[in-house]
Amino acid sequence: MKVWQTWDRRRRIICVTGAFVMLWSITQGFAWLISPSEQQLTAEGRELFIHAWTPNDPLSGDGDGLGPVFNANSCVACHLQGGTGGAGENKHNVRAFSVLPNRNDSNIYGGVVHANATAKHLLETDQQVQQHYPIIPGGVTVIGNCQVRLEDFNPVEFEVINTPALFGAGLIDGISDWSIRRNAWGQSLSALGKEFQGNFDATMGKVRVLPDGRVGKFGWKAQFATIEEFVATACAVEVGLSNSYRQQDQPGEFKADENAEYDMTNRQLDSLTTFCLTLKRPELVMPRNSREHSAVVRGRQVFTEIGCAECHTPDLGGVKGLYSDLCLHRIADPDHNGYVRKPEVPLPSSVPGLTEWKTPPLWGVADSAPYLHDGSSPTLKDAIEKHGGDAKHTRKKFQEGIDKQDRKALIAFLKALRAPSPEKIVAQAVEN
Ligand code: HEC
Ligand code: HEC
Repeated sequence: MKVWQTWDRRRRIICVTGAFVMLWSITQGFAWLISPSEQQLTAEGRELFIHAWTPNDPLSGDGDGLGPVFNANSCVACHLQGGTGGAGENKHNVRAFSVLPNRNDSNIYGGVVHANATAKHLLETDQQVQQHYPIIPGGVTVIGNCQVRLEDFNPVEFEVINTPALFGAGLIDGISDWSIRRNAWGQSLSALGKEFQGNFDATMGKVRVLPDGRVGKFGWKAQFATIEEFVATACAVEVGLSNSYRQQDQPGEFKADENAEYDMTNRQLDSLTTFCLTLKRPELVMPRNSREHSAVVRGRQVFTEIGCAECHTPDLGGVKGLYSDLCLHRIADPDHNGYVRKPEVPLPSSVPGLTEWKTPPLWGVADSAPYLHDGSSPTLKDAIEKHGGDAKHTRKKFQEGIDKQDRKALIAFLKALRAPSPEKIVAQAVEN
């Protein structure tokens, strides 16, 4: 005490400040110790991504683990081509459905018919969906003074969805809404310019604006704005893991089971999200052979010359070599057998049409066959030849407007768009 009193004011201030600094450092040290580093979360997330979940899995706390209904028992079972996080094969396509608005119900619903269940009697079928949303019988009704005959209407539309790759997802996550909107305005302006010159081959993407005003970027219908939300939904819907964002589905009910215990902690969710966000981006890999090298260089020019780059925008929001505008387009031909019938009641303008899909980023496309939202194209050439609708002018140019060498060059360019350095995985070990 005596020493303290004999110290002059300046020393006392230095001493007190020093104590504060020391205390602050200690608390920061604790914070650093308590909150995991990105590296730690990525490593944990990676384990969860490749983990083969079982019913009552030890990793799922009080929850029931895998299922009861699920599509596969791990993320990597579907996301595996070109390495962990890649695209999926057709055998793991997801069977989704939409219930179209109709004269009885103007809302739109959607869901998934799960491919698997933890017990045989829980297996879901298309017929169950149909029972929930039965055909609306037609008949004769009077509108004004006229008798109008209404056809039977089946409100259910099934879709098959192929698994996209997640490489570079963190970069897409970071693209601002504004960049997507600005790019879409650019498309509209240039389309308008073309129309004034009598050219109606215009490309105008539709930005998917979600009910809360954010722009959708993820999913074939651009139905999610962030990876975090998609990951949480994938856990619940694909693997049957309830979490604080989305509950697992109730077998045969096609809706979330509100009473299920959580299978995942927020930390597990965070780490899985961090893993997906930090997956390396795909790269353009130039061939060493000089002839092939020149073909890729030429192919990249052809890609722009014949209009592919109008939708597959090479650079977006500061991300180079993405090859997508992240907008919705209709590229199905009306005369194509896969063309879907019209809804009975118009879809709300905020909901994508049945034949509208998001332009998939083409980075990494060489390692992600089969192609298109339903995996219906086994080759790149076939995928290009299936471009009709708003992209039919580019298909025509590809088929008739360029010579064989340029066609080959274009494919060579696409084949140089590779998944990041292949990391071999133990996919077989976690297959169902
Ligand atoms: C049964 C196969 C399957 C499993 C299992 C699966 N996914 Fe997917 N994944 C898909 C399909 C199909 C899509 C596209 C869905 C759509 O667009 O509607 C997708 C899309 C995604 C996307 C959005 C990618 C983008 O760019 O649009 C993310 C993120 C994702 N999955 C993460 C995961 C995670 C994490 C897991 C594990 C919890 C997982 N998935 C399990 C099939 C699967
Ligand atoms: C009007 C916009 C538009 C134009 C122009 C366009 N595409 Fe596409 N492309 C799309 C959409 C949308 C899809 C997804 C359609 C689907 O899945 O049904 C797609 C899908 C693809 C796929 C499949 C990718 C995958 O991961 O499944 C390839 C490859 C492709 N396009 C290449 C091209 C090439 C090459 C050209 C030029 C000849 C071109 N596209 C022109 C919009 C366009």
